[in-house]
Amino acid sequence: MLTQYLSADDPQTPEIAAELIRNGELVAIPTETVYGLGADGLNEEAVAKIFKAKGRPQDNPLILHIWAPEQMEDFCHHIPKAAYDLARAFWPGPLTIVLPARDLVPKRTTGGLATVAVRCPDSAVTREIIRLAGVPIAAPSANISGKPSTTTADHVRYDHDGKIAAVVDGGPCRVGVESTIVDLTEDRPRLLRPGGITPAQLIEVLGDLVIDKAVTSQIDKDAVVKAPGMKYRHYAPAEPVVIVSGSREKAAAYIRAHFTPGDRVLCFEEELPLYEGCNPLSYGREADVNTLSAGLFGALRELDDPAIHQVYARCPVGDGVAYAVQNRLKKAAAFHIVDAEEET
Ligand code: TXA
Ligand code: MG
Repeated sequence: MLTQYLSADDPQTPEIAAELIRNGELVAIPTETVYGLGADGLNEEAVAKIFKAKGRPQDNPLILHIWAPEQMEDFCHHIPKAAYDLARAFWPGPLTIVLPARDLVPKRTTGGLATVAVRCPDSAVTREIIRLAGVPIAAPSANISGKPSTTTADHVRYDHDGKIAAVVDGGPCRVGVESTIVDLTEDRPRLLRPGGITPAQLIEVLGDLVIDKAVTSQIDKDAVVKAPGMKYRHYAPAEPVVIVSGSREKAAAYIRAHFTPGDRVLCFEEELPLYEGCNPLSYGREADVNTLSAGLFGALRELDDPAIHQVYARCPVGDGVAYAVQNRLKKAAAFHIVDAEEET
């Protein structure tokens, strides 16, 4: 199949992409978080193509993308006030809300669950495509399953060229990590995945938040979890990654002592001089965590090379968006962390 590359700036793009979606084809769409691999979320056959293209486990449900917040009522029922409060505060934006699903949402989309995840993304072209398609777009991150997410159209080209109908190029994604996911189907709101909307922002609106254990620890692959996606190996380059925590100086001393040719160092821009001769790659500035979230997946993709033996990675501390960066990097490292303050 010849993949079409459509510019988000071309006025014809929304209609071309919407028609492909209506015809049951796969179209990669830009969002503020990461690129999604989109299909008509109400069409089982179209949704099946997403799972096939990504090599995604069937029990891992998809997010339904809507063009206007009000649309959540079309696909969800028993919507609590909290959902309206969150939608008003953060949509369009990097937040996904899990709610009870209406019957018209296929089980293929929900991975067999009675709930569905909905999100109104902050990308004008993508919302216009959804509006013109007349159906919600089911879209996981467009990466091949298990690999780092796609934050540019080139990443999508690398993973899916010739296998999907079109890619809409909206430039690099601003946030760079996937949306925050909040489950509102239980008594208390539960954070299933941290992202661009921070726990503090959620608590300001909800007054309460439970952090699911899948956020903070490695989940056994046979475990029953709220967000099935959380238990699979994620975001990982080909080689092992170890996070080295601690002060700049202690971490550099540890890494330099253990470094062998063929290893790489993933660090902050400010640290590059400390790793001369160790082939360092910077993913952003420690002083501006938004550059780290925007740069993380591109850097992990660059490091996805079987010729590399081992990656030593530096991870930002703190909460807010740093919390989401920590979560993704820890998953890429399978929670393998060394504290340089305790090593000599
Ligand atoms: O930012 C994002 O959310 C991106 C863009 C494209 O919107 N999408 C994305 O989708 O990250 P994906 O499929 O890579 O991650 C969705 C996560 C998975 O961990 C999945 O298990 C979880 O959301 N999820 C989806 N539906 C769910 C549901 N009904 N209940 C619990 N978790 C759900
Ligand atoms: Mg994903």
